[in-house]
Amino acid sequence: MKVLIANRILIYQVLGELFKSMSIKPRLMELGVLDGTNAKTMADILMPQELFLVDSWSPEAFSDYIKNNSHRSWVDDLNKYADYFGGPLSEQVTFDRLYQKVVDKFSGQNNVKIIRAGSQKAVPVLRDELRGKPKFDLIYVDASHQYETVLDDLIDYQEFLTPDGFFQLNDCCHSAEGMKQNLGVLEAAVKFCKVANFIPVLVTNTDWTDVLLVKRNSATIDVIDLIIRNNEISFVEVPDQLLGALQIKQGKRRNISFC
Ligand SMILES: C[S@@+](CC[C@H](N)C(=O)[O-])C[C@H]1O[C@@H](n2cnc3c(N)ncnc32)[C@H](O)[C@@H]1O
Repeated sequence: MKVLIANRILIYQVLGELFKSMSIKPRLMELGVLDGTNAKTMADILMPQELFLVDSWSPEAFSDYIKNNSHRSWVDDLNKYADYFGGPLSEQVTFDRLYQKVVDKFSGQNNVKIIRAGSQKAVPVLRDELRGKPKFDLIYVDASHQYETVLDDLIDYQEFLTPDGFFQLNDCCHSAEGMKQNLGVLEAAVKFCKVANFIPVLVTNTDWTDVLLVKRNSATIDVIDLIIRNNEISFVEVPDQLLGALQIKQGKRRNISFC
């Protein structure tokens, strides 16, 4: 896997080059959309033929967090994150505002489909919707960050990916800050790679790390390698097996470390 000295935008740009070289106009999905900022960035760079946006936009999204962590003094109360969400996480109005921002951002764009449901409840809806239709080239996974739910999302959304399709995970790291949310994304990614034969291809050297996963035997891995080497992109290559060791080291800035 290559550690990019860059943020997630570079991953989208590399994927943009990859899809262009394969004459693919990509189909994208995002699980966990918030106000649609990242969805808009992905859409601007990758110009998808279809973009599906899945989010519960409801306090129910955090029922796993509450169930898992309410007895843990080392895990933050959800109210600490009210600023990030623009209001209390216990109130539906907070999520209605975020949902409306997404609707406004993508209004009039017929290639965008918004599915207002928990990622797990959306699976049968998507099965119905996508029966007999092409699969997705990239699914951005950023809904619940609790281990069990992320693992469910990865395992269940595999069926919506093309054979060479990618998962990109946000917040896929271990850090002192992440511990305060009992972040389980990295651990779920490591387990998923073992059970589904995926490998990490690209990782960002950022806090709240992004990691790109693809099937171990995918021909796209060599193409990504070529794109990166031919574009003077700075990277450090490390064995895939180090993914589980990834952690954030805090200094004047935050870097990822495998030590
Ligand atoms: C970290 S934010 C997403 C940020 C966005 N991807 C970005 O990069 O700008 C997490 C979002 O996931 C949603 N969410 C959390 N758990 C979910 C679940 N189980 N199913 C669907 N959405 C969920 C929340 O409502 C919230 O909008």
